Amino acid sequence: MKIIILGSSAGGGFPQWNCNCRNCDGIRKGTIRARARTQSSIAVSADGVNWVLINASPDILAQIQATPALQPGRADRDTGIAAVMLMDAQIDHVAGLLMLREGKPLELYCTPSVWDDLNHGLPLASVLGHYCGMRWHPIAGAADDLSPVAIPGIAGIRFIPVALKSKAPPYSPHRQQPRADDNCGLLVENTASGKVLFYAPGLGEIDPRVETAMRSADCVLVDGTLWTGDEMIRMGLSAKTASDMGHLHLYGTGGMIELLDTLGPRRKILVHINNTNPILDEDSAERALLSRHGIEVAHDGMEILL
Ligand code: MLT
Ligand code: MN
Ligand code: ZN
Repeated sequence: MKIIILGSSAGGGFPQWNCNCRNCDGIRKGTIRARARTQSSIAVSADGVNWVLINASPDILAQIQATPALQPGRADRDTGIAAVMLMDAQIDHVAGLLMLREGKPLELYCTPSVWDDLNHGLPLASVLGHYCGMRWHPIAGAADDLSPVAIPGIAGIRFIPVALKSKAPPYSPHRQQPRADDNCGLLVENTASGKVLFYAPGLGEIDPRVETAMRSADCVLVDGTLWTGDEMIRMGLSAKTASDMGHLHLYGTGGMIELLDTLGPRRKILVHINNTNPILDEDSAERALLSRHGIEVAHDGMEILL
C-alpha cells in the first residue's frame, strides 16, 4: 500500500499569500531552509493505479500535476482517483471538489454531518449537481461506529473511520454545537500485509478511542498545525488558539509530542503544518527537538509504504 502526501500544509499553504511571518517571508527571500507546501491532502492505493483521495485540497490541480500516478492515461478522459473521502468539511479539505467538476460523478465518502455542511453552510453538493454531481456514501455516523468502509474498485485496503474531537468549520452551524461526526480520522489497513496507517490532519483532543487507534497503527500521520497553542496570538496574526481551531498543540504539557512519546517505536509523522510553525524551518531548534523524539515532518510528495 502506498500513501502519497499530496499537501502537507494547513489552510493557507506555505508560504501563505498574505503572510509575512518569519517563515513565509524567509522562504520567499531564501533566508531560511524550508520547503514550500500545498494544502492538506493525501492519496492512497494498493495497486498503484486506483487511488482514494483523502481530502480535496484547494491545490488539488497542482497536486495532481505533481503526481503522475494519479493520471494513468487509459482513455481520452481518465483519472486514477476512484473515490474521495473527507475527514471534515473545512475549506482546505473540500474546496478541491470544485476543481474536479469536469469528470464523472464524484464518489464521495464522508460523515452525515460533513455532508450536511456541504449541502447547507457551503453548498458544494448542489453547485456540483450542475456539473459532475456527487454520489454520497455515508461513513462513521456515530462516535462508536468503527465499521470498515468498502470502496468499489479499491481492493486490498480497509478504511476504518474514527470519530474524533476537533472543530466543524467556521461557516458551519455545528461550529458552536458540535456533533460526534463533524470530524474524523482514519485507519487505513493494507489487508495483505496487515500494516496500518492512522491519519488525522485535524485532531483537537485525544480520547481513549483515538489513543487506541493510534496504538494499533504502524505509522501515525497526525495533526502538526501549531507548535504552541498561542503561537498565532503571540505573533499578532490571529486571536485564535490552537484549541479554538480544533487542533492540539505540539509542544508542552498535554501536547502531541508528549503523546507520541508514549507510543513506542513506530513511524510518527506530522502533517497539516501551519505556515507559522517553527518546525518548517529545517534549521530550527524545534525541528531538531522533533528529530530527537523520532518524529518526522511530512512534505509534499512524501511517500509512505505499508
Ligand atoms: C483548520 O484546519 O483549522 C482550517 O482548515 C483552517 C482554514 O481552513 O482556514
Ligand atoms: Mn485545516
Ligand atoms: Zn506565514
